Formats: sequence, C-alpha cells, structure tokens
Amino acid sequence: MADSFISLDTGRLSGFMSASELSAAEAQAAEAGRILLNGSGAGKDFTGWTDLPVKYDREEFARIKRCADKIRSDSDILVVVGIGGSYLGARAATEMLTPRYRTLRALRDRNETAVLFAGNCMSADETAELTELLEEGYDVSVNVISKSGTTTEPAIAFRILKEFMEKKYGKKGAAERIYATTDRERGALRKLAAQEGYETFVIPDDIGGRYSVLTPVGLLPIAAAGIDTDAIMAGAASAYERYSAGNPSENDCCRYAAVRNALLRKGKMIEIMVNYEPRLHYFTEWWKQLYGESEGKDQKGIFPAGADFSTDLHSMGQYIQDGMRFIFETVIDVEKAAHSVTVKEDSENLDGLNYLAGMDLDHINKQAMKGTVMAHESGGVPNIILHVPELTAYHFGAMVYFFEKACGISGYMLGVNPFDQPGVEAYKRNMFRLLGKPGY
Ligand code: PA5
Repeated sequence: MADSFISLDTGRLSGFMSASELSAAEAQAAEAGRILLNGSGAGKDFTGWTDLPVKYDREEFARIKRCADKIRSDSDILVVVGIGGSYLGARAATEMLTPRYRTLRALRDRNETAVLFAGNCMSADETAELTELLEEGYDVSVNVISKSGTTTEPAIAFRILKEFMEKKYGKKGAAERIYATTDRERGALRKLAAQEGYETFVIPDDIGGRYSVLTPVGLLPIAAAGIDTDAIMAGAASAYERYSAGNPSENDCCRYAAVRNALLRKGKMIEIMVNYEPRLHYFTEWWKQLYGESEGKDQKGIFPAGADFSTDLHSMGQYIQDGMRFIFETVIDVEKAAHSVTVKEDSENLDGLNYLAGMDLDHINKQAMKGTVMAHESGGVPNIILHVPELTAYHFGAMVYFFEKACGISGYMLGVNPFDQPGVEAYKRNMFRLLGKPGY
C-alpha cells in the first residue's frame, strides 16, 4: 500500500500567497498540530478519535462484524436512523464503496441487504414513503444511532419504526432486530434500549458525532453494507502513522490546514470540495458537516461547500469562474476508475464525436478536470488537489483520518474549539417553544 497512498498537491498556490505568508501559516499549523497531539487545546476531552485507528476496541469490533453478519443473513433492509455525525459517515462510505445501483438491485432481488437512511429530516413525505416501502413485505432491521439519545429527528423516526417493527415481528422479535448505538449511560435512547433489551453499541465519551465514523456509529451500517471494515481501519492506521510528524513539509494534514488558513487570510472564505465521481457526493456532505460544525463559530471559519463536477460545471461553474473572488477549491482526484468505458468509432459521425473514438471515458473526465483546474485558477480561484489512487475501503479510511486530523489542526489555527457545536441549539430552542415542549 505504501506507494498508493492519498497525497496532497498544494503546488499551484504560489500565485495566491507569498512564501512568507505560507511559511507563517505552516509554523502555526505545526504548533496547532502539537497542541492537538498533546491534548492541551480547547475541547481536549473530545480528541479520543486521534489515536482510534491504533487503539480501537477489538472485541467490540468483532461484535460489530457478528451483528452485521446477522443483519445480512436475516434482513432485506437495514434502516439506519440518525442525523449529522450519526449518519453522514456511514452514508459517505456506502455511497463511495458499493456499486451505484446496489440498493435498487438489493430491493429487487432480495439477495443482499439494502442500507437505507432515515431520521435525518422531519419530512412527512420522506417518512411516509419509507414506511410504505417497508410494508411491502421486506424483512427489516433497524440501527438507531444517537450519541445524546435525545435528538428530535431520529427520535421521531425511531418511534414510528419501532411501532412498525413490533407490529411486524412482535415485541421480542422486534427487539432481536433493533440495534442501538448511543452513549454508555446518558440519554433517553440508552434507557429505552436497556428496557427493551436491544443489542447496544457505545459511542466513546471522548469522541463527538462528526468524528465518530470509525466507531460503531459508522462501522455497523458500513459492515452491514458488505464493506471491508478491516481495510477501512488499516487505511486510517496508515494515515495515523503518516500524519504524526509535526512538520507540514512531511505532513499533508498539517499542510492542508496551513494552506486553507493562508487562503482565508487572503479573503478566500469559501472552500468548495469538488469531485468528478458521483459516488463522492456524500463524502462531500460528510466533509461539509465536519468542517462547518467544527470551524464555524465565534464569527470565524471557512464556509464549506460542495460541487459535483462535471454536473455542476453546468450550474455552479459560471459563478466559480466569474463571480465574486472569495472561493478556493479542494479537488478530489480519483486516479484510477474501477471501470473502463471506451467511446466507439461511428461510421456516420453525425454527433461529431469521432475525435474521441478509442478514448476511455475516465480519460475524458480527467481532461475535464485538468481543464477546469486551469480555467478556475486563471479566473482567480486557487485549487488544492487531493490525489486518491482508487476508491477503496482502505483509501476511505485514510481520507477520513486525513480530513478529521486536518480539521482539528485547522480549528486550533482559527482559535476556535473544533469539538463543540453550541450554535446548533438556537433553532432547537425556538422549535421546542413553538411546539410547546415542557420547559421551553
Ligand atoms: O457532530 C455532531 O456532534 C452533530 O452533528 C451530531 O452528530 C448530531 O447533532 C446528532 O446528534 P446525536 O448523535 O446526539 O443524535
């Protein structure tokens, strides 16, 4: 694996910052990295994820695999109930690492488990349509995930799904198909799970929601989708080793944190994560939540956005090329596609595409990427590139750890606590008051 690791290319930024601005940011990133490593920064009680890839609970890991095997043997559908950090990592992995139409085929053929997500919104339509689908006679398991055990969206969805499960399987049968991932002691979900006798998994006290992909929060649904969780942990462990050096010249994580903060200081306050593979859409959603909740506080932070190219070159492309110049891009370059699709010669050439004949579609996609990077740069949009050899479970683990660690470092550079999210309470207070919740 040593030669095919993810790597960061920041070599295209010299036109956007001076060498002294870059070296000042690098020195601050190195210092922020040291603070993260020695556990002396803000939110230090929530940095348990930093050495998780090398010290995770092997027994619990084996139990996750056993439960995933049971789900895969007795369920057509696993419904994963959770919101924010309690679902985005699993969704990023299942979208990235399983065949694009796996869910459709699984529901049609009923020979593998479709992983569906619920409790991440409060849409009546979404909820009703999921229940309608489940009522079509599928065998179902449910994994309800909430660290606090009190979040409204998943709690409502779970109340509905619990009723469905108990009606279908009886109380005892339902309990054998419901898995709860929550805090060791606190919260309504912990109490409910104990009372109903559900199999439970613990979210460690020192790991917050958006840093929890490599805990049971992410790993149970990921394993139930048939993804190799050993390979994910191996990729994360390699990343842990590589990014332990403090010097940004040897540490891509530190360098990423340094350059994005240097760009912010030059007025680039929006970062767009760009992909050219639709299966990376939810990885971007996971990254947006990680960076948005970690950095956006105290009136500080880079606003994280996402774009799926070349699709969005036909929508957001105009703004990125020509709009206000407060944007930079981080492009995920997947070096090797899993499939090959060749454009064929056509004797009539009515569409004028014979100049592409014999070319692989992935090669064409790559030229679109190179052309776009050049165009955006010349339009005043700096580009950082993360090269990812292939979309495998190993590289997923590496990418997760890379972005998590860089986020911790970057948050400290900004002078915020990257491990809390006080701002998300404001809407809840208003909503609870409007709904008449006691005490609000
Ligand atoms: O990252 C976070 O801490 C949040 O996004 C939470 O994951 C999200 O609010 C869900 O919280 P909980 O797992 O407590 O239901």
